[in-house]
Amino acid sequence: MMKQDKLLIGTNTKMYKTAAQTAQFLTGLQQLTAPLGREDMELFVIPSYTALETAARITDPGLIRLGAQNMGWEDEGQFSGEISPLMLKEHGVSTVMIGHSERRHVFLETDEMENKKVLCALRHKLIPLLCVGEKGEEKAAGKSEEVLRRQLEKGLEGVTAEAAACLRIAYEPVWAIGVGGVPASKEYASQMHSFIRQVLTELFGMDTAAAIPLLYGGSVNPENAPELILMDNIDGLFIGRSAWQEDNFAKIIGTVLPLWRNK
Ligand code: PGA
Repeated sequence: MMKQDKLLIGTNTKMYKTAAQTAQFLTGLQQLTAPLGREDMELFVIPSYTALETAARITDPGLIRLGAQNMGWEDEGQFSGEISPLMLKEHGVSTVMIGHSERRHVFLETDEMENKKVLCALRHKLIPLLCVGEKGEEKAAGKSEEVLRRQLEKGLEGVTAEAAACLRIAYEPVWAIGVGGVPASKEYASQMHSFIRQVLTELFGMDTAAAIPLLYGGSVNPENAPELILMDNIDGLFIGRSAWQEDNFAKIIGTVLPLWRNK
């Protein structure tokens, strides 16, 4: 079984925490997880745009890396309501989440738009965390692999093998995400991760594809986190609701990291 150098574990706080609430969360999370060390783990948090300045001020980048939930694909221009990569970099952001299921399905972003964002992030040396995943009806129709292939091929069009080394992919089946979501079984998640690795291998070659971290997200909780992280091709976890209280998140990390070390 191939294993990446570092366990990747992170959360996106969606539209839930104000700057003050983010500060409280990050302070606690940093304190609780500092003793775990970072030799073989990267912990990242993706807060709201308006919390980024505060977040960057109070976090130690050696302990918690910061990401943004979205990004416009131009450096500047007549794009009211958008945030450019230059604006993100000003706030110590290293990662940008692209194509989260809510962006695709609530705000109707297309694969072409995600592709422009991926290319823009890479141009600016931001790490793109591209989210992919099929809807419930697509899974029921046996189309999961077809959907994943399309999201990867279109979303990563024009990315060179060299640039692909900085990519991260989150597999987040739409039916598994959020309130009412049903977590993917560990077997199903691992099967889809293997398929994603196969598509990445076709696109970028085996060595590059093997080094791209694949994170699972969608109703990860304290019960299923340990079994998910032990599966083949699952290199990290991307957690929503179960991570939004610092003590709960720290507990999950504390359970998962030793398992990862022995994987
Ligand atoms: P959830 O969210 O863990 O609350 O299902 C996952 C996500 O949207 O990334």
